[in-house]
Amino acid sequence: MNAHELRTKYIEFFKSKGHAQIQGKSLLPDNDPTVLFTTAGMHPLVTYLLGEEHPAGKRLVDYQKCIRTGDIDAVGDASHLTFFEMLGNWSLGDYFKDGAIRMSFEFLTSPQWLGIPVEKLGVTVFRGDGAVPRDEESAAVWKALGIPENRIAYLPREDNWWGPAGTTGPCGPDSEMFYYTGDAPCGPDCKPGCSCGRWLEIWNDVFMQYNKKADGSYETLARKCVDTGMGIERTVTILNGKASVYDTEIFAAIREAVERAAAYTYGGDPVKDRSVRIVCDHVRSSTFILGDPKAVSPSNVGAGYVLRRLIRRAVRHGRKLGITGDALSPIAQVVVEQFSGPYPELKENLKYIIEELDKEEQKFRETLEKGEREFEKLLPNLLKDPRKIMSGRLAFKLYDTYGFPIELTEELAVEQGMTVNRKEFDEAFRKHQELSRTQGAGTFKGGLVDHGEIATKYHTATHLLHKALRMVLGDHVAQKGSNITAERMRFDFSHGAPMTAEEIVRVQDIVNDIIAQDLPVTMEVMSLEAAKAAGAMALFGEKYENQVKVYTIGKSPRDFFSKEVCGGPHVEHTGTLGKFTIQKEQSSSAGVRRIRAALEP
Ligand code: ALA
Repeated sequence: MNAHELRTKYIEFFKSKGHAQIQGKSLLPDNDPTVLFTTAGMHPLVTYLLGEEHPAGKRLVDYQKCIRTGDIDAVGDASHLTFFEMLGNWSLGDYFKDGAIRMSFEFLTSPQWLGIPVEKLGVTVFRGDGAVPRDEESAAVWKALGIPENRIAYLPREDNWWGPAGTTGPCGPDSEMFYYTGDAPCGPDCKPGCSCGRWLEIWNDVFMQYNKKADGSYETLARKCVDTGMGIERTVTILNGKASVYDTEIFAAIREAVERAAAYTYGGDPVKDRSVRIVCDHVRSSTFILGDPKAVSPSNVGAGYVLRRLIRRAVRHGRKLGITGDALSPIAQVVVEQFSGPYPELKENLKYIIEELDKEEQKFRETLEKGEREFEKLLPNLLKDPRKIMSGRLAFKLYDTYGFPIELTEELAVEQGMTVNRKEFDEAFRKHQELSRTQGAGTFKGGLVDHGEIATKYHTATHLLHKALRMVLGDHVAQKGSNITAERMRFDFSHGAPMTAEEIVRVQDIVNDIIAQDLPVTMEVMSLEAAKAAGAMALFGEKYENQVKVYTIGKSPRDFFSKEVCGGPHVEHTGTLGKFTIQKEQSSSAGVRRIRAALEP
C-alpha cells in the first residue's frame, strides 16, 4: 500500500463512521505565537478542541502536513523526519476512549482496511500519577479487542500524555499503537514503547480532557474530545515491510534525484546513506515550507531560520556526497511533482520554491568559501600549536562572524591533522544562545537572533511599541509573541478589546516621537533581580538565566523610556528606525490582540 492509498483509505474509513473530511491547513500557524510550525493535525483545531463549535460537525477527519524539528539530529535514522504527513480523526465532544480505540483497532486490523495481524500490534496507555489516574478504561478496551496483557505497557507522563503543542492548550492522556518489527524481544522488559527499535509507533489516540493554562494549572474541558494522529510515512514503512521510511516509495524518486546529483548509489556506505537521507528529508521539508501559501523565506528569525537551517544542512550533507554545484532545486522539482496531487499549492508556488532554494544555496556556498579563506589565514598560526588543537573560541569566532558551521571547521581541522576543542566551542555557543534568547516569544525558540540591519531596527521598534501600548492601554499589556520579517513586524499582546482608532494613533505617535528624539539604546548585563529592581520588563512565564542582558532606551539608566530584559540585538540610536506605521490591529486569539506594523526609511 502506498501513501496515496493509505491517505484515501483512512479518509474513506472515517467518513464511513460519520466523520466529515476537512481541509488540512497551512504549515505556518497564524494565530498561535507558541509554535513556529504546525506540528500535528490537532494544531489548526485547537479552538474547537477547547469548546468552539466546528462548522463541519463533531466528527472530523483530515490529512495535515507537519513540521517538527526537535529531533533534527536524529533525521537519517530509520524513522525520524522533519516533515511528515499526519492522518487524524477527531471527536469534538462525541465518542471518547471506547469509540476511538475501537475504530483505531478496526482500521488497523480489518482485512478491508489495513489488515495488520493483531499479533504484530502493541499499545501503551497512561500509567497515572498524582494528578490523573491510571487509564484502566483504555486498557480494558484494548484487552476486550484481543490485545494481550503483555502487549500493553503502562507508561508515565513523558510517554503517554499529549500536548499542548505550545506551552498552553488542550491536552490529556493518550494511548499509542505500535507495530512490532522484531523477531525476538530485546529482553524481559521489551514492551511497546521500548527504545530498542523493535517497536515502531504508528498512531496515537489522545483523550483530551484538560486545558493547560499559562500559569501551569490544568482546567477540565467542558466537553471531552479525541485527537488522533497516524504518521503516513511510518505506517507505509511497516505495511510494506521496509527497514526505514527512506526505503519506501515515498522517498524513491527523491532519493534517485539525490543520487543523480551526487553520482553516488544509495546502499553502499552507511555514512553516505545517512547524508542521502538527510538531503531527502531536508529538501522535502524546505519545499513544503516554501510551497506553503503562507511561505516564509530563509532568514535569521523564527520559521525563516528553521528553513535556512534545513537548506544549509542539506547543502552540507550534499557536500559530503561530493555535490559541489547547485543541486537542491532539481531535487525540489521531484518533490513538487510527487506531492502536488494532495498538495496542489506546491505546483502553484513552484517558481518561488526554486528561486528561494537557489538563492539560499548560493548564499551559503559564498559563506562557506569565505569561512574557508578565513580558516586558511588562521592556519599558519594554528599549525604552530604542538598539540594540534584549535581553540573553541576561535572556532566560535568563525561561526559568529562568518556563519561558518562548526562541523566544517572540524572537517578542515581534521584535514590538517588537528582537532577542535569542541567543549570550549559548545560552551561559547551556549553562552551566546543564553544571551541572545529573546523575549521569550515561542517564535524565537532557540535564541535565534537576526543580526540583519532591518530586523535589528524592527527589534528595537518592538520595544518601543511594547512600552507605548502599556502607556496608552495600561499595564496589563504584556507581549505574547512577535515575529519579524524584512518587510514588517507582528506583535501579539494581551488586551481584552479591539483598539480604537484614536488609541492606535496615540501609540503610533508615541513611537514616532521617541524615534524623533533619537534616544540612545544601551545594554548592560546584570542579574535578573537587579534588572527587575531597575524597572526592567521581563516576560511573564519566560525562563531566564541568572545573568541577563538589559536594553535601555533613554537618556540615562534612570531617565529612560523603556527598559527590557532581552537578548538583542538593537540599534544604537532610535533615530535610525525611520517612520513607524501601524498597518493593522486585529484579534489574535482570546484576549490577545495582534498588531502589524512597518518601518519606512
Ligand atoms: N496530536 C497527537 C500526536 O501528534 C495525536 O501524536
